[in-house]
Amino acid sequence: MPSTTSFKVLGVAGSTRGNSYSTRALKIALDHAKARGAEVRLLELGKATIPLYNPSLQQSKEIQLAAEDVAWANAFILASPDYHGSMSGTLKNFLDHFFEEFAGKVFGYVVASHEKGLTVMEQMRTAVRQCYGWSMPYGVSVNGEQDFKAGEISNERIAKRIKMMSRDLIVYGALVHEQFVRDLGGLDPDTFAARYRV
Ligand SMILES: Cc1cc2nc3c(=O)[nH]c(=O)nc-3n(C[C@H](O)[C@H](O)[C@H](O)COP(=O)(O)O)c2cc1C
Repeated sequence: MPSTTSFKVLGVAGSTRGNSYSTRALKIALDHAKARGAEVRLLELGKATIPLYNPSLQQSKEIQLAAEDVAWANAFILASPDYHGSMSGTLKNFLDHFFEEFAGKVFGYVVASHEKGLTVMEQMRTAVRQCYGWSMPYGVSVNGEQDFKAGEISNERIAKRIKMMSRDLIVYGALVHEQFVRDLGGLDPDTFAARYRV
């Protein structure tokens, strides 16, 4: 059984709104991961101001700091508001800066939506899959005004679901990541990890 004690989870908050519901739910998810022994970091894209991806430009300090967090992480939780059925442009721009860094890492998803946020999660899953990241089969959708009262989560069902997602992310995330690292260091040519060997 892989150990989860030094497992590292990066939460990426894709809302720039003050008092964002998706960011609040993400923070709760990170607290649960921490309670289960994982190390956690939060990257708030509303504060980190990652420049619009431009391959011709030199990497800025902000993107270098974000890149350190991405390299550090063994798994991710991406949180986004539902904007026209899509992830926020801020979050998509963050993802555009990375590619190979996501391989062999498991991703969990949080969406703030008045609907169910399913199309948003699908788009995040598509982007992650293109980078050979592994997605959890379910996510958490919060409907801000209904699920939060006075800044605290008031929907018991959603609260339980966030807790379950954090638990599954670190348990399944550790299994996938440890196997990926083993494959990376191995000689078997018949694994997708072979393409990441140096
Ligand atoms: C530009 C824009 C587009 C939006 N589109 C949708 C939408 O298609 N479906 C929906 O349920 N909510 C939509 N919303 C509402 C937000 O998803 C909702 O307010 C959410 O709580 C914002 O997330 P946050 O609190 O994490 O910032 C939209 C909001 C904005 C500003």
